Amino acid sequence: MAKKRFLNKVAIVTGSSRGIGRAIALALAQEGARVVLNGRDEQRLKEVADELKQIEAQVVYFRGDVADADQAKALIAFTIASFNQIDILVNNVGISSRGYVADLHPSVVEQVFKSNVFGTMHPTHYALPQLRQSKGQIVFISSLAGIHGLPGLGPYSASKMALTAFVESLRIEEFQNSIHIGLLQVAMTEIVHNKEVVAADGSKQLLESRQKGKVLTMDQVAQDCLALLERRKYKKTQTLIGKLNSILNRISPVLVERILRANLHKFEANSK
Ligand SMILES: NC(=O)c1ccc[n+]([C@@H]2O[C@H](COP(=O)([O-])OP(=O)(O)OC[C@H]3O[C@@H](n4cnc5c(N)ncnc54)[C@H](OP(=O)(O)O)[C@@H]3O)[C@@H](O)[C@H]2O)c1
Repeated sequence: MAKKRFLNKVAIVTGSSRGIGRAIALALAQEGARVVLNGRDEQRLKEVADELKQIEAQVVYFRGDVADADQAKALIAFTIASFNQIDILVNNVGISSRGYVADLHPSVVEQVFKSNVFGTMHPTHYALPQLRQSKGQIVFISSLAGIHGLPGLGPYSASKMALTAFVESLRIEEFQNSIHIGLLQVAMTEIVHNKEVVAADGSKQLLESRQKGKVLTMDQVAQDCLALLERRKYKKTQTLIGKLNSILNRISPVLVERILRANLHKFEANSK
């Protein structure tokens, strides 16, 4: 039998009560990690914890909003109290928004930045002392929307670009402490049936389900996250389109802008 890749590592996955976070937590547990789940809904957390226990994983969960500094601090304290160490932090929490900037209620950008930026920076800040001791790892779950700003996704794109800058700073700051810091730029992925985004008026809006086969599976994203962790790699950009976008954007952002303008109709669903 192959050796489990993350045997006895202690991994926190924020936003793991469903979706991509759940898939990453499950994949880490299958590879022997002890997992700390997080989300704001107790029932959903309990269900995922039960699922992981079925494969005999060591799992605990912490109900809390990581965009709140005190709750993020409590998540880290809970992890140390449960397992006495932290090896991996996967910053997965993130919400998206819809609407052109001209139409956005001010609460939209606030909600998106709170979850995606504060909800990532706070757990990172409080986990760093432990991660320095364990020479541990942090992976940030970003998006192709964080390569070049996309129409209808302004706050979301901006929040994911903020993560890139945060990762760049951290990699320099923590280099001497041997902490691995990675960034996964996720492509369009299947979603849970009740996934919500923030609508232009600031209310929650259900997303339409996505056609299987045309988007990545959550497990594909989880496996890329594990590969990044295993190789302690800096960055992975998913899909050929994502990689081309990334390269072209470095050479000529103006050309990327022209391509996006010519394809604006494909983003119309994001306009409201
Ligand atoms: N799905 C895609 O196509 C796609 C593409 C590119 C990037 N991504 C990125 O992948 C990540 C996961 O996306 P997803 O589609 O799996 O999202 P999702 O289905 O909406 O799941 C989000 C998870 O985060 C939790 N959560 C949200 N805000 C939280 C907070 N402030 N504190 C604690 N937990 C919180 C949710 O549980 P509660 O609501 O119960 O708290 C849930 O467990 C995000 O960063 C997203 O930007 C997704």
